[in-house]
Amino acid sequence: MNKKTYLLLSLMLAGCGGGGSDNSASETGADTVFDLGPAGGVATVEYSENNNFLQFIPDLDISDYHGASQGRELFIATWSPAPGDRDLLDGYGPLAITDSCSNCHEASARAESLKSDGSTGNGILFRLRDEDGNEDPLLGPQLQTFSEDNIPEGTVTWSEGSNKEVLFHLNNNQYSLADGVALAPRLSPQLVGMGLLDLVSESTILEYEDINDSDMDGISGRANQQSECIGRFGWKAIHCTLKGQVAGAFQQDMGLTTTLNALEPCTESQSVCALYPSGGKPEVSDNSLEAINDFLTILAVPERRIDDESEFMAGKALFESTGCDACHRETLQTGDIERFPILSNQVFYPYTDLLLHDMGEDLSDGAKEAGAEPTEWRTPPLWGLGLIEGDGKSRFLHDGRASDLDTAILWHGGEAQASKEAFVELTEEQRNTLLAFLRSI
Ligand code: HEC
Ligand code: HEC
Repeated sequence: MNKKTYLLLSLMLAGCGGGGSDNSASETGADTVFDLGPAGGVATVEYSENNNFLQFIPDLDISDYHGASQGRELFIATWSPAPGDRDLLDGYGPLAITDSCSNCHEASARAESLKSDGSTGNGILFRLRDEDGNEDPLLGPQLQTFSEDNIPEGTVTWSEGSNKEVLFHLNNNQYSLADGVALAPRLSPQLVGMGLLDLVSESTILEYEDINDSDMDGISGRANQQSECIGRFGWKAIHCTLKGQVAGAFQQDMGLTTTLNALEPCTESQSVCALYPSGGKPEVSDNSLEAINDFLTILAVPERRIDDESEFMAGKALFESTGCDACHRETLQTGDIERFPILSNQVFYPYTDLLLHDMGEDLSDGAKEAGAEPTEWRTPPLWGLGLIEGDGKSRFLHDGRASDLDTAILWHGGEAQASKEAFVELTEEQRNTLLAFLRSI
């Protein structure tokens, strides 16, 4: 079956209930691919050669976009220091990493992170915290590699350790990080189905929580409970909502203030933020913040790419029998959404439980962040990963140490140790079948 036929069939199925609120076929074991709904429910977009991310959901009437078109402009715009030519787009810096969201979140790949010359690109940034969660007293919670006064907080180079792990080195002649503070790497993820993930109810996330491993399967996912909500975005699930995530990015990655984060990313000991003009109070209006939120909310999910239906089903069975789906949960469902009713009650296939898991010492970043321990990571969604594997720059895991999916699996430890071992014990043919499944979801 070619890709086109598959899409048509899956859309037809969606029309007669397969992609709606009926999820009886998923999680309980579908017999054929036709028992599965479309990857992103109604938000599924047709496969395209090189533009799979940052697409709008296809069946939404333009009059129902709200601020999404404007949000898209703000997302791809280059912001400038104040005062800039356009009031709407100024206030960048004085401390920042880069001047556009789209420098880090591209339409066709993960942005370049670990470059072959040992330098690092926009596709990776660094939190600065110790294992108790304390930030660096001088530089604050994140390293800014750009400064308007040309004295950035530092740059980072990387090298391979003796175990093929990645080691990061801070280059800053004047400063070394405070004792115990780690350079904690965070790869920029591709943005897929962000609205769907945002619209899952907290009770749906909590269904999978098993803090004390009462079912004794060795896996004890826990929600990243913040003071008033459950974190779900970022590698450590530090943000509860898209809006919080976006405001955090504006502040820490771009030096832009919002009503949610009114301060520039300077600590009290850093005077550079007071030396340069501000782009307004706040620099990014509530209207702009809302527009980007709308844009992210209606981002689509690329459809599955299935060449061989029976291989896909065999791979799915192996994914389940090796226990991947204990964390990479196949389906989630949105609640009722007033602003974008079309996204209400959608069953979709992200392969994440949005919970934190202890992944073992090898994957520790030495930093506690927003309640997540150094070894704890939020299960990342797996959809779309096959579209970027082997493209020459996309890398995998929170620090980019894996350049293909196979290697990413082999680094699993901690709660995922048994599942990793089950994967290793498969025959080579079975492993390839599982990988083919992963590449097509
Ligand atoms: C310097 C690179 C960089 C810039 C600029 C940047 N981001 Fe990000 N973004 C990241 C990284 C790294 C993460 C993961 C953060 C973490 O793990 O806490 C992320 C996470 C996200 C997520 C959550 C993804 C997920 O799967 O949980 C969203 C949504 C997002 N960014 C949107 C934006 C928007 C909107 C902008 C512009 C206002 C922006 N980003 C600017 C690097 C960047
Ligand atoms: C205990 C929960 C758990 C189990 C079981 C598990 N994973 Fe993961 N997986 C994670 C977490 C958490 C990460 C992120 C770890 C990191 O970045 O340090 C991850 C990362 C990945 C990645 C890289 C994702 C990316 O965005 O770069 C792939 C691919 C993956 N897992 C596939 C699998 C497969 C295949 C299996 C079964 C053989 C499996 N996982 C079993 C929790 C789990």
